[in-house]
Amino acid sequence: MSLPVRFEVNGKEVAVAVEARLTLADCLRHRLRLTGTHVGCEHGVCGACTVLVDGDAVRACLMLAVQVEGAKVVTIEGLSHDDRLTPLQAAFRKHHALQCGFCTPGMITTAHALLSDEPQCDAARVREVLSGNLCRCTGYIPIVQAVLEARAAYRKLDEPGGG
Ligand code: FES
Ligand code: FES
Repeated sequence: MSLPVRFEVNGKEVAVAVEARLTLADCLRHRLRLTGTHVGCEHGVCGACTVLVDGDAVRACLMLAVQVEGAKVVTIEGLSHDDRLTPLQAAFRKHHALQCGFCTPGMITTAHALLSDEPQCDAARVREVLSGNLCRCTGYIPIVQAVLEARAAYRKLDEPGGG
């Protein structure tokens, strides 16, 4: 049996009919063709599927699509609004914080949620928050360096008139 669900993805209203057991990750990838959200472990361990739901970083493999009724979902595709890299993405590039890129969407969405809430976070806090995102090839030092460098851009957003 299909159930109707309406929510916002990357600023656009969507309405889909889904099986009650369909995960948000599969809904995003297979129904909405937002394949930037990756699926690794499918049981909440690797963090590759992390998206933002009402501003919080969540594992889309552990959430059902029907649970996001009325919510605002942002995927990796929704973090940049033009053809340029965001400061966080640019920092990943500068620090060579990715190789195969499989973990990168989850790293970026997780770090974006952290920096949006805590633009003053220190390296220990970045490591703590990213400890739920597994990278099998790059190593974490450049990833942490990239997130730390991107803090400046999020601090500017926090300032009066910063947007
Ligand atoms: S695929 Fe969701 S946490 Fe691994
Ligand atoms: S860049 Fe390959 S798994 Fe992280």
